[in-house]
Amino acid sequence: MADYRIAPSILSADFARLGEDVKAVLDAGADWVHFDVMDNHYVPNLTIGPMVCKALRAYGITADIDVHLMVSPVDRIVGDFLEAGASWITFHPEASQHPHRTLEMIRAGGAKAGLVLNPGTPLESLDWLLEGCDMVLLMSVNPGFGGQRFIPQTLDKLRAVRQKLDTQDRPIRLEVDGGIGPANLAAVAEAGADTFVAGSAIFGSEDYGKTLAAFREALAGVS
Ligand code: DX5
Ligand code: ZN
Repeated sequence: MADYRIAPSILSADFARLGEDVKAVLDAGADWVHFDVMDNHYVPNLTIGPMVCKALRAYGITADIDVHLMVSPVDRIVGDFLEAGASWITFHPEASQHPHRTLEMIRAGGAKAGLVLNPGTPLESLDWLLEGCDMVLLMSVNPGFGGQRFIPQTLDKLRAVRQKLDTQDRPIRLEVDGGIGPANLAAVAEAGADTFVAGSAIFGSEDYGKTLAAFREALAGVS
């Protein structure tokens, strides 16, 4: 079985008791914390920033924090997230003036770096940049909100990116984000994803343990 990671998106967590809710989802079997940063500029919504990341570390969260930047400009905020304890930092290449430099900046600060492609972003956006990437994140909804419907064309796009990544001489994670749940998890894994973001499907459920067990069960059936 591939080396899968499940990353609940805290966009759907209870912000009034965030530390507790994040701890609960990790105790229930999640691998990473997916941290959605929105700026009301690059996307039409406003969420959380580096102070909240730092507060989760101070609360005792030691799991990887997977920071998904939906902000423009990008570079100004990267250092703050490095300092706040981000493990992964991904950004949308068109939101940065110099994506190659941004990738270098993230790695130089000790985090892993990745690019995020929107549903309409062509794969050429990865050209000449993959060497600087530890992860590629494909959006399976348009960024900005939780609880949207999975865009089915993402499956073909995942297959195409998987082919590209398999030609590299080191592993690069392939993450998928938006509208993911037990019903489509096996299909996205079969198409090549190995890292799964899910917000509403996990935090909106009654029992995180049961939901994550359903995720693992769906992944166990993937060839
Ligand atoms: C959307 C965010 C996602 C979002 C996913 O812009 O990047 O991480 O929280 O939410 P669900 O799983 O509810 O589609
Ligand atoms: Zn996200």
